[in-house]
Amino acid sequence: MNESGTKVVLSGVQPTGDLHIGNYLGAIKKFVKIQSEFDCFFCVVDLHAITVFQDPKVLKKNTLEVAATYLASGIDPNKNIIFNQSSVPCHAELAWILNCVCRVGWLNRMTQFKDKAGKDKENASTGLYIYPNLMAADILIYKATHVPVGSDQKQHLELTRDIAQKFNNDFGCEDFFPLPEPMIDNEISRIMSLKDASKKMSKSEPSDFSRIILTDTADQIRAKIKKAKTADVPMPDTDQEVTKLKEVSNLINIYSSLSDTPRDKIINLYQGKNFSDFKNDLTDILIKNITPIGNEMGKLMNDQSYLVEILKQGSLKAYEKAKKTINEVYDIVGLIR
Ligand code: TYM
Repeated sequence: MNESGTKVVLSGVQPTGDLHIGNYLGAIKKFVKIQSEFDCFFCVVDLHAITVFQDPKVLKKNTLEVAATYLASGIDPNKNIIFNQSSVPCHAELAWILNCVCRVGWLNRMTQFKDKAGKDKENASTGLYIYPNLMAADILIYKATHVPVGSDQKQHLELTRDIAQKFNNDFGCEDFFPLPEPMIDNEISRIMSLKDASKKMSKSEPSDFSRIILTDTADQIRAKIKKAKTADVPMPDTDQEVTKLKEVSNLINIYSSLSDTPRDKIINLYQGKNFSDFKNDLTDILIKNITPIGNEMGKLMNDQSYLVEILKQGSLKAYEKAKKTINEVYDIVGLIR
């Protein structure tokens, strides 16, 4: 709980296009589930997106598309604050101050920077390097206590806690920033590629067949699951054996999460069989759960002024909260405004 005794959630999704079932199962589905329990801020993190070059027109469209995904997945804009990051300048202001709190050595440990920058680190934007500090600012500006994310964000959340702790210590303001708790569910916190389960499902993977995106049609879903890698042996009868078959294990996690069926029940249902029945049923489950979201996103994207208005209203509400924190921070740090 934060100082006012409330439980506050903040999470964000980058508007970099083609949200997939990893984003949905690892994050957005959880947002929907917890929206009545917490005060929630769901952000479209457009400033994070531009750490890698984005075509400006496409960025605008993708920003609205993330808002559409939130709504189409079932997030209620009247109960929760849905907004885009750049509309609340306090995020960037706090990020600058946190740049001065975070240590270079801490950022040098961030594996996501290493993955994203690749071999040509010298050519990565400085924004990409300090990206985790902006993420910490997103969370701390609302004094969020809980952050639902996939496991790829775990290290960034640990850094956020370290930054919050150091700020509180350096400025002698114990408990000013709460140390946010990650909300990461074990099995679905890392949905893997359909082609190679040693890699996470990702927007940047070159093959479309590695992921199911939320706007895929039933035919596209069918074709992708048909091609998805399984195993040369029938479905084993224990979870321990299934876990060794990484691609199968990943498909079972997707099945389990979408149908709310425990893994062992799924294994019992298909044990000893080849994978065609399993794949047919998984396809049906995906079509039943994902295509309505894609269809609703399509409808919402036809009414872009409505989406712009949702973001605008959300940003005004978010700004009211963020302004209070940034004023406190300026005062604590000794900046006159
Ligand atoms: P982003 O936009 O890459 O992903 C959005 C959310 O989807 C989760 N996710 C996955 N979960 C399971 N399996 C996968 N294959 C998978 N791929 C992505 C991510 O963990 C994330 O929860 N840095 C963040 C955005 C961000 C943020 C924040 C999140 C900015 N500020 C503050 C929380 C709080 C990111 O790049 O997410």
